[in-house]
Amino acid sequence: MPGIAAINKLKSHIGSEVSLSGWLYQSRSSGKVQFIIIRDGTGICQCIIEKDNVSDELFERLKHLGHESALAVSGVVRKDDRSPGGCELAVTDAKIIHEASDYPITPKSHGTDFLLKHRHLHLRSQRQWAILKIRHTLIDAIRRFFNDNGFTLIDTPIITAMAAEEQQALFEVDYFGTPFYLTQTGQLHLEAAAMSLRKVYCFGPTFRAEKSKTRRHLTEFWMVEPEIAFIDLDGLLELAENFVTSIVTSVLEENKAELEILNADIETLEKIAPPFHRLTYTEVGEILSGEETSRFLAGQLEELKSAKQNTVSQIEQLEKQQAQPLKKYKQEKIAAELIKLRSFLTELEQKIHNNPKHARIAAQFKWGKDLGGSDETIISQMYQKPVFVTHYPKDAKAFYMKTDTQNPSTALRTGNNVVRNFDLLAPAGFGEIIGGAMREDSYRILAQRIKQNNLNIENYQWYLDLRKYGSVPHGGFGLGIERTLAWLTGQKHIRQCIPFPRMLGKIYI
Ligand code: 4AD
Repeated sequence: MPGIAAINKLKSHIGSEVSLSGWLYQSRSSGKVQFIIIRDGTGICQCIIEKDNVSDELFERLKHLGHESALAVSGVVRKDDRSPGGCELAVTDAKIIHEASDYPITPKSHGTDFLLKHRHLHLRSQRQWAILKIRHTLIDAIRRFFNDNGFTLIDTPIITAMAAEEQQALFEVDYFGTPFYLTQTGQLHLEAAAMSLRKVYCFGPTFRAEKSKTRRHLTEFWMVEPEIAFIDLDGLLELAENFVTSIVTSVLEENKAELEILNADIETLEKIAPPFHRLTYTEVGEILSGEETSRFLAGQLEELKSAKQNTVSQIEQLEKQQAQPLKKYKQEKIAAELIKLRSFLTELEQKIHNNPKHARIAAQFKWGKDLGGSDETIISQMYQKPVFVTHYPKDAKAFYMKTDTQNPSTALRTGNNVVRNFDLLAPAGFGEIIGGAMREDSYRILAQRIKQNNLNIENYQWYLDLRKYGSVPHGGFGLGIERTLAWLTGQKHIRQCIPFPRMLGKIYI
């Protein structure tokens, strides 16, 4: 057999004979020709096996070979624009390395539960493959951005004694008889490092015993967090928009093909560039409870209803076609199309059901509470670019955020204190991907906030020390990898964006 080539490099071998090694992804046969699709980790390639070109024995073995069998095939690379990757292989020989039968994941529709139980196998699907490739680029681009911009990587601890975000969302660890916690954020330790190295970042897994079972929540997720000494809120927003633009650009440069496999909204991603929209929390409240939002949601409901009608009639047409006597591959194509349309229909029905509920919640906006998931969705649906929401009410946010009593457009107007913080909402309904803030740098106010939040001040003594010795204005933010990936790839649920998801009450694998 000739040397093994990688499928993603086949274009440079057109006209030559090569071998591929991989797994049997799909197959169909029509009399004297078989079409098999092989995946090799770098891509997928259609291979054509003509009865006249191989031995009868091999032709028969390949015909009955189960999906996910491992094999090596050799043949001549031909240009074919209709094939995935633009090439196909005219097979002259094949070697079966491992024969698999009854692969449990079939082209028919499987429920979410089934696929999560088979996650170890589902990772081989083309969609999961594409998501994992993009996740790799995203993580690489994140590291490159900070490394190229003068940041030093700090590895913050996983086991900690303190809560930084919500206290009720801590996972307890029995640490030689003393209760400690899995970290919710590297931020507090990172602040200490920022006073040594000025510009730092940490990147690791974080844990939240979240009781929320939503499409945006995992109990274990990855977060990158930069922290900078001598910065202000405007500086942080500028850093965040340059950072997000840079990672989106890298993914577009390196993963167009994967984004296409996932039907991601490439056009919208291409528009991501600074400056992003900037709104205060108070302005968001006015938008949510105003006329503009109720008109926007009413218009959206009409669009959803007409999309539903369209989808129902497409499904009916395909069902009629399905009832006709058709070749097996045609039947399979229609079945796959129906799976997609039915899942889209369920999604539309869910949105139609939620629309009036979301409209009610928005209209009843009350200053002082954190924004809910549906509020974030509405705001981010109104814009094509990411939106910064700044200056949230102090009592709705974490104890460490810098109190802002001097902002006339927000604090004084409402008679309440706000903090110098921001959330970044990804566009097109995705919602929050970044949370960040200036940190309270006054010893007195920080100590007060720790007490007001019923935290044990003993545990925070070292953190308070940072405000005792050369305290300076500083701040940072955290970007969630899975949420960002879900936004970039258009996934409805972030569980698709981590290889082995951990969710409320459930670990499958
Ligand atoms: O807004 P959060 O809670 O901010 C912090 O943890 C800060 N200490 C970060 C900092 O300032 N250094 O979380 C930051 C981001 C969110 O915007 C979201 O993308 C992600 O982390 N995130 C989650 N992702 C998945 N599942 C969850 N349960 C998440 N909670 C937060």
